[in-house]
Amino acid sequence: MKSAHSPYSHTRVGAALVDHRGRVFTGCNVENASYGLTVCAERVAVLKAVSEGSKRFVTIAIASNRARVLTPCGACRQTLREFGRHMRVLLVGPKGVEETTLEHLLPRSFGPADLR
Ligand code: THU
Repeated sequence: MKSAHSPYSHTRVGAALVDHRGRVFTGCNVENASYGLTVCAERVAVLKAVSEGSKRFVTIAIASNRARVLTPCGACRQTLREFGRHMRVLLVGPKGVEETTLEHLLPRSFGPADLR
């Protein structure tokens, strides 16, 4: 969240992605003056992890500076889905941490097996 580049929305988002070995990859949202080029914190974390050779994710924690708990956008849910359906998702809100799963957030999802 501290590193977020969000001069347009002023929304600071931080994500921490944990792999099966316990390695943690962090991400923040990176906005662009050409708004559509903005990348969410969750996808930054996934891209960092994959580019470092990690793909087996067990948990992602997401926090923001918004008053209401922030849940991952559709594009981020699908990006996470590529690497597993059963990921634990921790939504860090002002009133505490809500635990859910990717399967709950993205039911009946399209994934790698659909292309086999
Ligand atoms: N944002 C995220 O980083 N993750 C999400 O799942 C939803 C939205 C960011 C993108 C943009 O910088 C700001 O929040 C407002 O949409």
